[in-house]
Amino acid sequence: MRKPLLTKLLAGAALVAVASGSWAQGQVNIICSVQAEWCNLMSTVYAKTTGTKVNMTAKGSGEALAQLNAERANPKTDIWFGGTGDPHLQAAEQGLTLEYKSPQLPQLYPWAQKQAADSKYRTVGVYLGPLGFGYNKELLAKRKLNPPQSWADLLKPEFKGEVQMANPASSGTAYTMIATLVQIMGEEKAFEYLKALHPNISTYTRSGTAPVKAAARGETTVSVSFVHDVTTEAVNGFPVGSVTPSEGTGAEVGSMSIVKNGPNTEAAKKFYEWALTPGGQQFGLAAKQFQLPSNTQVPKDPRMTDPSKMKLINYDYAKYGASAERRRLIARWEKDVQNAAR
Ligand code: F6P
Repeated sequence: MRKPLLTKLLAGAALVAVASGSWAQGQVNIICSVQAEWCNLMSTVYAKTTGTKVNMTAKGSGEALAQLNAERANPKTDIWFGGTGDPHLQAAEQGLTLEYKSPQLPQLYPWAQKQAADSKYRTVGVYLGPLGFGYNKELLAKRKLNPPQSWADLLKPEFKGEVQMANPASSGTAYTMIATLVQIMGEEKAFEYLKALHPNISTYTRSGTAPVKAAARGETTVSVSFVHDVTTEAVNGFPVGSVTPSEGTGAEVGSMSIVKNGPNTEAAKKFYEWALTPGGQQFGLAAKQFQLPSNTQVPKDPRMTDPSKMKLINYDYAKYGASAERRRLIARWEKDVQNAAR
C-alpha cells in the first residue's frame, strides 16, 4: 500500500477509536482466519491507534475452532476474527464464545444480524462471500478448454487431476462447498458427486485459499474457492478468472466471536466494536480483500462481491453450523471420499 493511503486510514481509524471510546491500552489475543495481509494491516493499525498490544495468530476456520476447543479449560484467546460462519456457530453452541450484543447491530446487513441471532449473540457477521471456482486462463487456453460453468462441469474428464479444493476438516471454504452441495442435490447425491469429483482433485489443501493461489501460479487449472479470493489474485496480476456455478451456490457469512473466559475480555469487546465500525471494516479492501463488509455504511468498491449478481441458494446457516451436523458431514467426507481410490 502507498504511504499516504495508510496515513489516511490510520488517521480515520484513530478518529473512530477515540469517538467510540475504544482508546485502550493493554493487550488482545486474536486468532485471525482471513488472509495474512488483512490480519497484519488490522493489527498494525489497531495497535498504533489505540495503544493496545495485539497478538495475532493465523488459523483456518476449522483449525481455529479446534484451538478454541483445546483451550477450553484455560482460554488464551480473546477474539476470533474472520473465517466462515459455520464453525463460529458451532463454537457458540459449544459454549466457547461469549454472549455479547453490539449496539452497532442495527447498522449491519440482515444476514450479519441473523448470524448473531442464530448464535444467541455469541458471534456476528463481518463479511459475506459467495463460493465459486477460480481458473487459470492461460492453462485453459493452452489446452483449448472452456472455464467450468457449473458443478457438473467440474466432473469432466478433461479436468482429471486439474482441480484443487481444500480439506473440510481444516478449511471453512471446503465445508461451505460440501454443505452447499448437500443443500442443492440432497445428501446422497452430493456424496456421489464428491466421490465422482475425487479423481479430478489433485490435492486437498489445508487452507481454503491455497487452491486459488495454486491456480494463479499455474500449478492447477481450476480451484474451488470463494470468488473474492480469486479477485485478490487477479488484482495482484495473476491470469485468473472466476465463475459462480449455474446450478446455484452458497455463501459464507464470515464471522467474529469473543472467546468466553478469555484473558482480556474488556479489550476484546473494544476490538470487536472497532471491527464492526465502517472505519474498522475498510481494512479488508485496503489489504485487497473483496468480501462484502457487513456494515452497510462501508463505501462499496466495484470489485467487491455483489450477491445480487449471482444465483445464491438460501443457505441454512443454523442447520449446517450445528455441531452434530458439521461433525457428521466432515466425518462422512473423510470416510467416503478422502481416502477413496482414484
Ligand atoms: O480470507 C479469505 C477467506 O476465504 C475468507 O473469506 C474465509 O472466511 C476464509 O478465508 C476461509 O479460510 P479457510 O477455508 O482456510 O478456513
